Formats: sequence, C-alpha cells, structure tokens
Amino acid sequence: MKILVTGGAGFIGSNFIRYMREVYPDLFITNLDKLTYAGNLDNLRDLEGDSHYRFVRGDICDLQIVNELMSARPDAVIHFAAETHVDRSIHEARSFVETNVLGTYCLLEAAREQRVERFVQISTDEVYGSLPPSGRFTEETPLSPNSPYSASKAAADLLVRSYVHTHRFPALITRCSNNYGAYQFPEKFLPLMINNARLGKKLPIYGDGENVRDWLFARDHCRAIDRVMRKGRVGEIYNIGGHNEWQNIEVARLVLKELGKPESLLQFVQDRPGHDRRYAIDAGKIGKELDWKAETKFEDGLRWTIRWYLEHEAWLDQVTSGDYRTYYERMYAKR
Ligand SMILES: NC(=O)c1ccc[n+]([C@@H]2O[C@H](COP(=O)([O-])OP(=O)(O)OC[C@H]3O[C@@H](n4cnc5c(N)ncnc54)[C@H](O)[C@@H]3O)[C@@H](O)[C@H]2O)c1
Repeated sequence: MKILVTGGAGFIGSNFIRYMREVYPDLFITNLDKLTYAGNLDNLRDLEGDSHYRFVRGDICDLQIVNELMSARPDAVIHFAAETHVDRSIHEARSFVETNVLGTYCLLEAAREQRVERFVQISTDEVYGSLPPSGRFTEETPLSPNSPYSASKAAADLLVRSYVHTHRFPALITRCSNNYGAYQFPEKFLPLMINNARLGKKLPIYGDGENVRDWLFARDHCRAIDRVMRKGRVGEIYNIGGHNEWQNIEVARLVLKELGKPESLLQFVQDRPGHDRRYAIDAGKIGKELDWKAETKFEDGLRWTIRWYLEHEAWLDQVTSGDYRTYYERMYAKR
C-alpha cells in the first residue's frame, strides 16, 4: 500500500508519518510539503534513508507537481497541508485562502482525475465556531467559523463535500480538537508556554485566560486518522476529541508547576480579536462506528510533552531563531 501525505513536515503530519511507519512496516509514504516556516525536515530526520519514505518539496497549489504525484495512484491521500495559525490569519489572510482553499482544490482535482480511491481531509473543530459554557460540537453542528483561518478550512471542507456529492469522489473529513505533543511549532499555545517557561520569560495569556480548549494527544489523533482512512464511510465527517476541556490559564499553570517556575511569569495580554471562547468535541460517532477513543490522559500526555521539549532544546532553539523572533517581538513585545 502507498499513501500520499501533504504537509507531513509540520506538527501533526510528521507525527502521523512516524506513527504509520511504526505500525505498517510495508507501507510506502510520499510526503509533499512546501516547507513554510512551520515545516521542518528535522521533524522527520529519523526517517532519512528509509526506503519506504520519500520527501518531495512542493506547493499543493502547483498543479504540475500535484498531478505528477497523483499519477502514481496512491491508495489514499491524507491532506494535512495548511496555513494553521489563527493569529497570523488575522494579520495576513491571503496565504490561508491560497493554501487552504486553492491548494485543497488542486489536490481534489488531480485526485479525481487519477481516480484516487480515498481522500482524507484533515479539518478542525474551529470550523464550528465558539460554544457557550455547555454543549459539544457534533458532526451536525452548523459551520460558523470566526477567524480567517477557520473560514478557509470551512471553505475547503465545503469544497470536499461538493466533490463527494457532484463527482462521487471518495473523500472523508475529520474535525479534531486542539492537539498537543512533540514537534509543534512554538507559536502555538502549549509549546509557547513551555518554551517561555524554560527560558524564564513571561507567558502571554490572552484576555482573562478562561478560554476553553479540548486537548488531544497528537498520537491519539494519528490513530483516529488511520481508522478513518481504513474504515471510515465515504462522504462522512468524523469529529475527533479527547473530552479533555481545560482553560488556557489552567494549562499555563500546569506547565509552570511541572517546570518548577513561579506564577509571576503569567502575563495577561490584550485578547485576540474574535477569540473563540470554548471548543468541545462530541466524539461519539467515531467511537461507535470506528471503535476509537482517546487513550492518553491529559496530565500524563502533558508531562510527556514537557519532557520532550526539554530533551529537545536544540530543536526548540533552532525553530525559535530568526523569523520567529521578529514575529514574536511584533506580536507581544508592545502589549
Ligand atoms: N494543530 C492542531 O491542534 C490542529 C487541530 C485540528 C486540526 N488541525 C489541522 O491539521 C493539519 C495540520 O496541522 P499542524 O498543526 O500540523 O500544522 P503545521 O502548521 O504544524 O504544519 C503545516 C504543514 O503544511 C505545510 N504547508 C503549508 N502550506 C503548504 C503548501 N501550500 N503546500 C505544501 N505544504 C504546505 C507546512 O510547510 C507545514 O509542514 C491542518 O490542516 C490543521 O488545520 C490542526
């Protein structure tokens, strides 16, 4: 069996490729990634020289390269590639529209032409918008994206849906909650907290810190994607989540406690415009249909993740140099 993964040099994509290579020794994986600031070949350094793994640098908006890879007729396409950072989408939305919408279109078109038999669109719970203090997102919750990031993902999901209905294209969609784990770029909340705490820097907390996220260990997400890829029903959407709701401030405090750092490092900063208050996933459908559930308890996964970043300080130092510094100075320094 051979699969094409897009965006495999990023956080979840690299975890997924490593997971699949571990679980399926005979599987061949091609990874198409543009290597934006968020993509990093160091995330998969251990697979260099693996005869079952091939990296191709390229843009999913480039139909020539996408057509070429689809003509090898992969058994499945797992589409992770995206611009993913909400804050960046507020300042510059164009690349989100290009990669997340146009890029998805290019993949769909090429895959349809080559009669690819399985296409998994990796989406997000953020397409559903924000929840009040109670209730959970189900697959029937109406789309109500609030950021340019989530709007571009919702647009891509609708495009996928239209290919299923119009062309009988064999696609499925997953919508997962916040992931955490190894190799996440430290502009995202959890690695940002860990990185700043280890350096004794302030931990910027948006607003009152009481925004709630539903956390899932990346490896649990990868297992779920594998299930959906192999056993999911074409045309269906599967929500994925761990029933692990935590306020941002609670997570930041756990990080400080684990690292033995003082709470005086917490710094409340001006809230993100349009900041969604709460996300929570009802993962009942994937549980019942595909026999999947989250296995990692948040406190255990968090401890493991913190240790991973501390043991990979060189990786952290490398990805937080150059462009990252300039970006974060602009984002937080003046608040
Ligand atoms: N991180 C989360 O908590 C989370 C939760 C739910 C869903 N998702 C979804 O999972 C997917 C992966 O998220 P992530 O956090 O790993 O993202 P990431 O930002 O860490 O990685 C994105 C990858 O896509 C690549 N990429 C970007 N534009 C590209 C283009 N035009 N062509 C080819 N490659 C390109 C980047 O180089 C990078 O390797 C995304 O689609 C995201 O919407 C993420």
